[in-house]
Order: sequence, then C-alpha cells, then structure tokens
Amino acid sequence: MSQVQQITVLGATGSIGLSTLDVIARHPSRYRAFALTAFSRVAELETLCVSHRPRFAVVADAKAASDLQARLQQAGLDTRVLFGEAGLCEVSAHAEVDAVMAAIVGAAGLKPTLAAVEAGKKVLLANKEALVMSGALFMRAVRESGAVLLPIDSEHNAIFQCLPHDYARGLQPVGVRRILLTASGGPFREASPDTLHAVTPEQACAHPNWSMGRKISVDSASMMNKGLELIEACWLFDARPEQVEVLIHPQSVIHSLVDYVDGSVLAQLGNPDMRTPIAHALAWPQRIDSGVAPLDLLAVARLDFQAPDDIRFPCLRLARDAAEAGGSAPAMLNAANEVAVAAFLERRIRFTDIARIIGGVLEAEPVVAVDCLNAVLEADRRARELAGQWLNRGEVA
Ligand SMILES: NC(=O)c1ccc[n+]([C@@H]2O[C@H](COP(=O)([O-])OP(=O)(O)OC[C@H]3O[C@@H](n4cnc5c(N)ncnc54)[C@H](OP(=O)(O)O)[C@@H]3O)[C@@H](O)[C@H]2O)c1
Repeated sequence: MSQVQQITVLGATGSIGLSTLDVIARHPSRYRAFALTAFSRVAELETLCVSHRPRFAVVADAKAASDLQARLQQAGLDTRVLFGEAGLCEVSAHAEVDAVMAAIVGAAGLKPTLAAVEAGKKVLLANKEALVMSGALFMRAVRESGAVLLPIDSEHNAIFQCLPHDYARGLQPVGVRRILLTASGGPFREASPDTLHAVTPEQACAHPNWSMGRKISVDSASMMNKGLELIEACWLFDARPEQVEVLIHPQSVIHSLVDYVDGSVLAQLGNPDMRTPIAHALAWPQRIDSGVAPLDLLAVARLDFQAPDDIRFPCLRLARDAAEAGGSAPAMLNAANEVAVAAFLERRIRFTDIARIIGGVLEAEPVVAVDCLNAVLEADRRARELAGQWLNRGEVA
C-alpha cells in the first residue's frame, strides 16, 4: 500500500460522500481522492473535482461525461470522466485504489461495491442495501478475495468496535449473548399510528438527530432503516436474527451495544456525526481526528431507552420476517421498499402505504434460494415489477 492511500468515493455528492471528503481533506498526507462518482448532481461533482482533483470522475451517461470532461479540461484538470455501471466498477476495482467508500444509495450500489470486494479492496460499507440484497454472495466474495470489510453505518461501526477482534469465529465462541442495535425512533417516534397516513415527505425527512439523504431519512421514519440494519448485522457479524435486538434510544448518543455472557455490556458513544465512523474505518486499526466535537455527557444529561412499537412501525417486523425467511426475501423487501419510498417522495402514495406495498410484494411471491448474482437481480426485478403493479392499480397482483 502506498504511503498516501488512494480512495474511491462512490456516491461522492451524497451525505456520506461529502462527510468522507471532509475527513479526507483533513489528512492530505494520508489520503487522496482517487475517483469521485455522482448520478444526478453533476454540477456538484464538478465543484468537488475542482477542490479534490481526482484521477477519475464517474457520471450516469455518455453525454454527461463528455460535457463534464470538457468543463474539467477548461479548468485545467486532467481528471478522466467515465460513465455508467462499467465506469463505477472500473474505479472500484482499479489496481491503484487502496480503499473504496461504498456510499451510493440503494440497489444501484450493488455491482460497484461487489467489484471492490472482488478486487480485494478495503471496503467501507455505507450502502447497506447492497449487503441486504446479496448477503451470502457478498460475504462469500469477501472471504474469497480477502477484502477488508468495515461497516460505516454508525450502529454496525459501533458493534464492530465493541466486539473482540476474533469475532469471525462466531458470536457464541467469543462469549456474545446479544447485539443491541439502537434506533432514534425517527421523527414519528411519538406520533399516534392513526396520524401517520397524513405525514408529508418533508416531515418524514426531518430527522431529529441525523442529517442524511432523503431515502435513508424516510427509511428512518418508517424504521425500515433499522430493519435493513438488522439484516446487515446478521451478515456482517454472522448473527441469527433473534440475536439482534432493536432498542429505541432517542438521543442517538449510544450507537449500539454488545451484551456478553458474563453480564458485561459494551457500548460505543459519540455525537451523531457520520464523520466518526468514517474516520474510524478509514484509519482502522489506527485512530485519526474526524473533526467531530468531543461528546459532552453533561450536556446530554440523560440516556433513554424504550422498546420499538411494531404497530406504529410495521416495516421493522417485515424486515425481521425477511431476515428469518432468508433466500430472496431480503432482496425483495429492499426492492419493494425502494419503489415505495420513491413513490412516497414523489407524493404518489401515503407514508403508511410503504409498509402495505412491501407486505403485499412479499406475500405475492414465494421465497427462493439466491445462490448467484443473477438470482439476486431477478428477485430485485420481480419485486420492483410487483410494487409497480401496486402503484398502478392500488394492489399487488
Ligand atoms: N447519510 C447517512 O447518515 C447514512 C448513515 C448510514 C448509512 N447510510 C447509507 O449510505 C448510503 C448513502 O446514503 P446518503 O444519505 O449519503 O444518500 P444520498 O445523500 O442520497 O447520496 C446518494 C449518493 O448516491 C448517488 N446515486 C444515487 N443513485 C445512483 C445511481 N442510480 N447510480 C449511481 N449513483 C447513484 C448520488 O448521486 P447524485 O447526488 O449525483 O444523485 C449520491 O452521490 C445509503 O445506502 C444509506 O443507507 C447513510
């Protein structure tokens, strides 16, 4: 590994991408942005290229790529602009790349993240949807390539920090009883279930503690985010769904906990700022400054906990059921959720329809084994088709 580590940031224009670039910029002698990617926000990507001068930039299509290439040349940059999935996979697997921040939102991140894994990179995983969709396949690729997989989700990063280094032997052999996954409860934690049908995208995206992209903000409001994280935790830490308990913790100061058989419970605490897990994973096993203010426990003053409410948040139950069913169920859950959340953000459906669509899609299709990428992609395609039918006709066929 070269002295200055070359970092590809997939999803550089997003919330995690920008936080990653903030941490990278604090440590120019350790990290350099090798490639930056975007999808719709090309002007923002251009600004990032001017300040970080990456070797590569990747956009959605050929036209956007040639336009950006011309503008970057005019600005005196020698950044090469690629496009599409092939471009994303190229900058993920490039021989000169040391680490890849996987921060594209949703299923679109699957192939580029897998490309990084298969190339044996250090992979900083924010794109939980990729792992939820393809769990067994993804983890097999990690083992076979020797990739180093580090979780960026603050909860999984916390669990990683609280587990012993040899946790890969299995949770029981290292004395773990339970993983306690904390959740803020989102903006509707105390809302009455019969008011949720009327909430707007703006209300759903107004998270009390975290500033995030719109899709994950809606997932947090519905608690599907915690459901996806439950599935993610099972794959990352080789846990069974019943070993992962969800705990509402409104302050978002404890990012998650590990409960050991001797009664010890280890927790990781910090301000709710994604630069902490990003800096942790970038520097692991060392520590670097992230720019995050020290935690002031006197200002926090109290830490509250409550059990999640399955009636208010049916998405959490749907995700737990999908985790237990295995096979194609998590990929279908994820795809149906992506379609439903996009429709909610476009004001085509109500907030409460999100869980109804996902439940309908999962009921409409038997669970099948997914032992190759094509099977994962077929489960994703079929769930999108069924969810689309619901949107067009108001029900799942
Ligand atoms: N934000 C958080 O605090 C947080 C915490 C934990 C985990 N995560 C996870 O991190 C991932 C990113 O979240 P975020 O909040 O950063 O999302 P975001 O702000 O919406 O950013 C998403 C990024 O993905 C790019 N993108 C979107 N669709 C794409 C496509 N079809 N092909 C290629 N690139 C595409 C976007 O490009 P454009 O901007 O150009 O459209 C943007 O760079 C998600 O999986 C989320 O669950 C986020």
